[in-house]
Amino acid sequence: MRTTTVIQTPATPGKRKTASDDFYNDVVKGLTAPQKYLDPKYFYDAAGDQLFQQIMQCHEYYLTGCEMEILSDQSATIAAALEKYAGTFDVVELGAGDATKSIRLLQQLHTNGIDYTYFPIDISGNVIRQLETTLPVKLPQLQLRGLNGEYFDMLQLVNGYSTKKKVLLFMGANIGNFNMATARSFCQQLRQYLQPGDLLLTGFDLKKHPQIILNAYNDSAGITRAFNFNLLQRINRELQADFNLSKFEHFPTYDPGTGACKSYLVSLEQQAVHIGTDVSITFRENEALYMEISQKYTPEETDQLAAQTGFKPVARFFDSKKWFVDCLWKCI
Ligand code: AVI
Repeated sequence: MRTTTVIQTPATPGKRKTASDDFYNDVVKGLTAPQKYLDPKYFYDAAGDQLFQQIMQCHEYYLTGCEMEILSDQSATIAAALEKYAGTFDVVELGAGDATKSIRLLQQLHTNGIDYTYFPIDISGNVIRQLETTLPVKLPQLQLRGLNGEYFDMLQLVNGYSTKKKVLLFMGANIGNFNMATARSFCQQLRQYLQPGDLLLTGFDLKKHPQIILNAYNDSAGITRAFNFNLLQRINRELQADFNLSKFEHFPTYDPGTGACKSYLVSLEQQAVHIGTDVSITFRENEALYMEISQKYTPEETDQLAAQTGFKPVARFFDSKKWFVDCLWKCI
């Protein structure tokens, strides 16, 4: 029996494609796939950004605190390693957010008398505007050029602006939001925008007791649950859909064998969800909608990833519990 009907997309032929056309097309594509999924990049609307800020403050969500500890306690060591392996350089940050972690390192580079420009890249124009307002107050001597757009497009631009070596920051375990195969192709692609001798500092959440990981994605205050449900609310609001949130359950999982932590929303009954007037999606009872992966690594697996993608691991910076690592890789 055919359970999914897609009749038409709303984009009129010949009309310019908009961000909301992309959102609509991606949502319909995900919800009509054999394993239904939603692209996690859509978590981050204004409400999603706020919920993610709250997640980072949850006591169960240890990742932010661990990486903050690394940057607070080891900025001098990290800055020394950057100087040792790159000499003079500019700093580029992918997905800079509010730069609360990287600011420690930026400050340390100033203390060390390094002359550099900081190029934060973010898909959100709001984030870049915020940074351009707040960072000069916190670091008056900072040379800053914010770039709003897709990572690879903006890296291309940076290469036009700067002839120095690059130190690329990709913090916050964002790499974990790719499965291992996709992380490989992402790093390979990243490598193509860099030159031999450039550096990449990237954060990985490490494998640890499975319950600790599961709790981080199932906090007792229900904020991660709300973060997942927010995407259904966004679809309802922006795409005129009718997800009934009370008919779904937040279901995070963690497989300690593979290190894959995956979040699902499980349909509590057979139901139809409509998107606008044209699309009807049927969910079976207990059918799972795949929301996000947060892949966990061993230190050895991070080295393998470097070796497979054109980098050489040169240093690792762990927090005191060894739950998180920022890895420094050099382009070969
Ligand atoms: C952004 N990213 C690293 C977070 C993570 O841990 O995978 C997103 C997140 N999703 C639920 N909680 C946090």
